[in-house]
Amino acid sequence: MSLAPVLDRIDADLGAATERLMTLLRIPSISTDPAYAADVDRAAEWLAKDLASMGLEAAKHPTTGHPMVVGRGGSGDRHLLFYGHYDVQPVDPLDLWNRDPFDPAIEETPKGRVIRGRGSSDDKGQLMTFVEACRAWIAVHGALPCKLTLFFEGEEESGSPSLVPYLEAQKDALKADLALICDTGLFDSRVPAITTMLRGLLGEEIIITGPDMDLHSGMYGGAAMNPIRVLSRIIASLHDDTGRITVPGFYDGIPEPSDEVKAQWEALGFDEAAFLGDVGLSRLAGEQGRTALEMLWSRPTCEVNGIVGGYTGAGFKTVLPSKASAKISFRLVAGQDPLKLRESFRAMVQKMLPPDCTVEFKGHGASPASVMSTEDPAFEAARQALSDEWPDPAAFIGSGGSIPVAGYFKTILEMDSMLIGFGKDDDAIHSPNEKYDVESFHKGIRSWARVLDALAKTDAP
Ligand code: BES
Ligand code: ZN
Repeated sequence: MSLAPVLDRIDADLGAATERLMTLLRIPSISTDPAYAADVDRAAEWLAKDLASMGLEAAKHPTTGHPMVVGRGGSGDRHLLFYGHYDVQPVDPLDLWNRDPFDPAIEETPKGRVIRGRGSSDDKGQLMTFVEACRAWIAVHGALPCKLTLFFEGEEESGSPSLVPYLEAQKDALKADLALICDTGLFDSRVPAITTMLRGLLGEEIIITGPDMDLHSGMYGGAAMNPIRVLSRIIASLHDDTGRITVPGFYDGIPEPSDEVKAQWEALGFDEAAFLGDVGLSRLAGEQGRTALEMLWSRPTCEVNGIVGGYTGAGFKTVLPSKASAKISFRLVAGQDPLKLRESFRAMVQKMLPPDCTVEFKGHGASPASVMSTEDPAFEAARQALSDEWPDPAAFIGSGGSIPVAGYFKTILEMDSMLIGFGKDDDAIHSPNEKYDVESFHKGIRSWARVLDALAKTDAP
């Protein structure tokens, strides 16, 4: 089965493919907010029907949370599992959007044509690059180039509560030679990428209570403990003056990237000034003496994602609050054990509590970093296939983001993952005015057609 007519078919069908993506983008499948549960279900239904319309055997599978969608097709010795997620992030702050997040449109921008709308990049647009590649293969050759299972999740943006039990129960149905995940980015607009390192994520919420009730800050202020003061001290002490994180044992066991890997990263010529300049910044703010790529790909972080306490409404109120809380996340790298660090962080916070204060902890996920082995010849084959599509050769890169499913595929399904995606740093994922470049969508579809062709011709490990 030859590739060229498949690529031609993709070019000819781009308008219709874009329309199909628009239809999916109109469904507000926000997984974290129960008010949208019916919409999440509707997106799953739409996807299952779309796969079935291509002749795949497809169904929506209920879970205790949002449904999974599984489709199957093709035949042969080579069996690949594709993963993408059809749920999206909430849209707030809504007033910062220039259009309705669920009324997507093609917009002309100084940097080219984009598809604007929530989920256009993360991850509906990316997921559909793979679906469209499959559609083109079937349209031209009447068949997929190898055996394929497509697996779509609807809970990725809300911590994947049903994923582990589902994978455990469906082990035999989902296990393949290799997983393909489309939820990452290009290195830049010329250089496609296979992401081989993902950071893990540990989420912690701390709620500090001082007095039993809110107090008048004149009647009690000065004499009574204010939990916001306690919380601020704890947060301020999490980093030292050189940007290092002070949680005991935090850096234990973290390997330095090899000289070879460092040289590869150096050769990518990452433009730190542009990376910061694009978001209105000029200085790196991580550990001193590290490059931006090291900070993002091979070093762990501790960030406060939200902080609440006392009176935050309009005007002013002289109150001494009873409670103060913060949501803190740690991006983790290879060598770090999320559960051990959770214990260490909680012990550190406990130790800093003055008399009369108590703390409550809520955990929000604890997934380790993943490092993919690229020894399987499939990686070199895919790298070559991507290089054939894009102006410059493909690179093996790290990512600062987290995709816990890659780790579960390894531990539960005993399967490696290959992460290929076409997002860009300026896609504004999780942010107002999210977009996906039309070029990412078009070349993304063509890239998958090529990668499938290449992998179908490569022996399974
Ligand atoms: N697609 C992202 C992960 C990502 C972001 C990869 C940027 C590469 C570059 C994914 O949907 C996501 O946001 N993941 C969460 C995981 C969390 C909820 C467990 C993340 O990284 O915050
Ligand atoms: Zn995503």
